[in-house]
Amino acid sequence: MMVIQLFLLTLISGVHPQTIKEIHRQAGEIVALYCDLENGDAEILWKWDNNQSVILYNNMSSAEQMQIGVVLHRESLVILNASVNHQGKYACSVGNSSRWYWFSLTVHDHFRMYDDQRCYTPAACQLDCPSDIPAKNFSNCRTTWHKGPKYGYFESVKKEHSGNYTCTQSCPYRGQMYNVTFGVRLEVKQSDNRRTAEILKPRETTFEVELGSPKVIDCEALTSCSESDLYWISSDGFVDKKRSSRIFYNETCDESSKENKRTASLFFTEVKEEDLSKNYTCKLDHFGQRTGFVTITLTQKARPSHISLAVCTVVLTVLSAVMVFVCVKFKVDIRLFLRDTLGCHSSTSDGKSYDAFLMCYESDTDKGFNAHDRKMLESVLEQRFGYSLCLYDRDVLPGRAVAQVVLDCIEQSRTVVLVPASPDPGPGSGLLSAIHEALVERQTRLIFINTETPEVWKSGSLPKALQLLSESGNHVAWKGMSSMPPSSSFWKQLRYHLPAPQRAPKIQLLPQTIQDVNSKWKSQN
Ligand SMILES: *[C@@H]1O[C@H](CO)[C@@H](O)[C@H](O)[C@H]1NC(C)=O
Ligand SMILES: *[C@@H]1O[C@H](CO)[C@@H](O)[C@H](O)[C@H]1NC(C)=O
Ligand SMILES: *[C@@H]1O[C@H](CO)[C@@H](O)[C@H](O)[C@H]1NC(C)=O
Ligand SMILES: *[C@@H]1O[C@H](CO)[C@@H](O)[C@H](O)[C@H]1NC(C)=O
Ligand SMILES: *[C@@H]1O[C@H](CO)[C@@H](O)[C@H](O)[C@H]1NC(C)=O
Ligand SMILES: *[C@@H]1O[C@H](CO)[C@@H](O)[C@H](O)[C@H]1NC(C)=O
Ligand SMILES: *[C@@H]1O[C@H](CO)[C@@H](O)[C@H](O)[C@H]1NC(C)=O
Ligand SMILES: *[C@@H]1O[C@H](CO)[C@@H](O)[C@H](O)[C@H]1NC(C)=O
Ligand SMILES: *[C@@H]1O[C@H](CO)[C@@H](O)[C@H](O)[C@H]1NC(C)=O
Repeated sequence: MMVIQLFLLTLISGVHPQTIKEIHRQAGEIVALYCDLENGDAEILWKWDNNQSVILYNNMSSAEQMQIGVVLHRESLVILNASVNHQGKYACSVGNSSRWYWFSLTVHDHFRMYDDQRCYTPAACQLDCPSDIPAKNFSNCRTTWHKGPKYGYFESVKKEHSGNYTCTQSCPYRGQMYNVTFGVRLEVKQSDNRRTAEILKPRETTFEVELGSPKVIDCEALTSCSESDLYWISSDGFVDKKRSSRIFYNETCDESSKENKRTASLFFTEVKEEDLSKNYTCKLDHFGQRTGFVTITLTQKARPSHISLAVCTVVLTVLSAVMVFVCVKFKVDIRLFLRDTLGCHSSTSDGKSYDAFLMCYESDTDKGFNAHDRKMLESVLEQRFGYSLCLYDRDVLPGRAVAQVVLDCIEQSRTVVLVPASPDPGPGSGLLSAIHEALVERQTRLIFINTETPEVWKSGSLPKALQLLSESGNHVAWKGMSSMPPSSSFWKQLRYHLPAPQRAPKIQLLPQTIQDVNSKWKSQN
């Protein structure tokens, strides 16, 4: 919630929310305010805002600064001898940027800042003086511990070392010594030697790496932060902790939970071939005793080779080409197979009663269908393949009525199959010329059975009407005897171009004449 509020505040005000660092100090002590801003080479501006006036310290000469007991020292503003007069708000800013970093100084008559520190028996313990004086920045400040060992260092801390310690920082400046004293509350705890200290990670012992790439391997241990040590060694000896090394490790210890978690991360800034032949061991020491270790090795990641990739591509290309070839080459068989076995065809009713109307045209050659062939064509289509046909008989007398009858027949059929006949049973080509326009207009589906070579159809030796119709229709070649068996390519092609047989009950919509014609032709044959 707070994060969101801060975020909203930032959005609304358009500036970073101000943070104020609270500083409390006893009168007479030295105070240093450290400006924690990225400054580069830009000047740091310091101001003091005590409600009555704002003082910009940068304008003052060092003599003026000294007069009021303030020293500007690089990133720090140092108040040598704090008094109530120094109370108020201080701020620093880098260059001309409008962002100010705020401090609030309160000076008390009696004040001691305390810090809590914890050590475990019987390990070494270093007390840390919680000074805010940037010693190195300022001058040669020295730390003195008033109780306990010199420099606040216990070689082997004991339970009775628990207690309050004070440290004084003494900073010489212009012949004077300026001091500040802090308190440290030390708690020495009995460490439990039997407390578990174990390595949690890594569980695996080999890591896949890519040569030339960076790699990080985390070693994680459940242990106490104060008395344990977690580190990496390689076959060559200790691994460097310097970040500039190609292989180094750094470590952290997370004390936030009861079970402390220590992590030592091994970094390879760039994995090299030589690293693959080495063992890397993460070791955990707890109270000076080895409590666990994990040895890992690196292996090169298997890369898909370029050759197998190329082979795969070629195989896939060839396979697709074969698939395309098969589909094109066997499209007729595939379509008929789907239609016959799986019943995959459009079954929407179009209101037509017949699948096809067989109509004769005069064949130029003597290879056309004779009466017997036509009978065979009919019976195979009807009886073997289940098509319902509308038939035309040459016995119908020529004239207007016939053309009308034929057109009705065409109207009721899904396809018109044009059969070359020799001799022409008539009226044939004449009739075709008459109904040619009607066929084109209705976009009737036409199937030509040819006995001629395709060149003949293009040469223009055929009647004009037939020529025109042939351009919009599908062609199926009749090769005489070899086309007879129902399994021949002729029948496959014909069935391919014909729609799937409609097995819905037929509604007789045709005029009586057509049926007469059909029955007559049938009885004759
Ligand atoms: C500064 O002035 C404000 C009111 O303008 C007041 O609330 C605050 O206590 C004053 N601070 C000091 C240090 O005098
Ligand atoms: C302090 O410095 C600012 C610019 O940094 C300048 O405008 C101002 O006049 C100076 N004041 C004094 C008293 O020198
Ligand atoms: C600090 O200031 C007090 C009076 O405010 C003075 O008695 C004391 O001598 C000063 N200390 C130093 C080191 O200047
Ligand atoms: C701040 O100063 C720099 C030069 O030090 C200048 O380039 C920049 O424009 C200044 N910005 C503002 C807001 O005055
Ligand atoms: C001043 O001290 C701070 C903290 O002690 C440090 O980060 C910084 O680098 C120091 N600056 C210089 C110039 O020594
Ligand atoms: C240590 O200092 C604290 C004040 O911060 C006080 O309450 C406590 O009694 C002191 N303990 C000892 C052992 O002097
Ligand atoms: C600071 O401490 C030193 C000893 O560490 C002492 O000589 C000196 O007088 C002290 N200065 C002040 C102002 O208390
Ligand atoms: C360890 O080093 C890596 C890489 O330099 C860095 O990202 C990470 O923050 C470091 N961890 C600690 C705890 O310093
Ligand atoms: C790595 O460790 C295995 C046993 O874990 C050992 O056999 C092998 O010699 C070691 N290799 C190196 C280079 O130390």
